[in-house]
Amino acid sequence: MESDILLHRFDYGDFILQANLQSIIDNPSLSNLLDNIKKEKKSIDSNVKSWHYGWHVHKEYEQFKHLSEIIEKISIEEILKKEWSTYKDTVKLQFYESWVIDYTMLGFTQEHRHYPNVLASSYYIEVVGEVPCPLIFTNLIKERKNIEFELQPKTGDLFIFPGHLNHKVKAVGYSKKLVRKVFAGNLIMV
Ligand SMILES: [Fe+2]
Repeated sequence: MESDILLHRFDYGDFILQANLQSIIDNPSLSNLLDNIKKEKKSIDSNVKSWHYGWHVHKEYEQFKHLSEIIEKISIEEILKKEWSTYKDTVKLQFYESWVIDYTMLGFTQEHRHYPNVLASSYYIEVVGEVPCPLIFTNLIKERKNIEFELQPKTGDLFIFPGHLNHKVKAVGYSKKLVRKVFAGNLIMV
């Protein structure tokens, strides 16, 4: 697992962890589950402007609980123990809220951040498309310059980042093919 993990580093200790869990997660089954949830549940209102349902998906559905436990474990092993090791023996990281998103062509997410949650995570259950639809970070600093940083997700990708990082997702616009199903969640220190 460790060799699949990449840490994009920025100034002031900021980072974005990137991993691909394709080999250990049954994505087609999660994709079907999301489709079934979509049939039952109405979209909630938030900065996500596409169908999404939350905020305790990891408690309501066993398969998402399993995924949240894997994300929690990676956060503890790779972030708490290595990046924030001062706290490794005194606190734990715990999954707190979660939601699922199904983006349409015109779907987007307004710029936002997840503070005061210490970490935010985004897992890509299924990504199919001809047009790039990156997750865009807008307030990262590298070499003392404010930069935008984009990550282009593919199926099975997991991104974990500090909750104070601003980010957004733009609408794709017209495209013959677009599937972008996401499981996202926040982690807190306990
Ligand atoms: Fe977000």
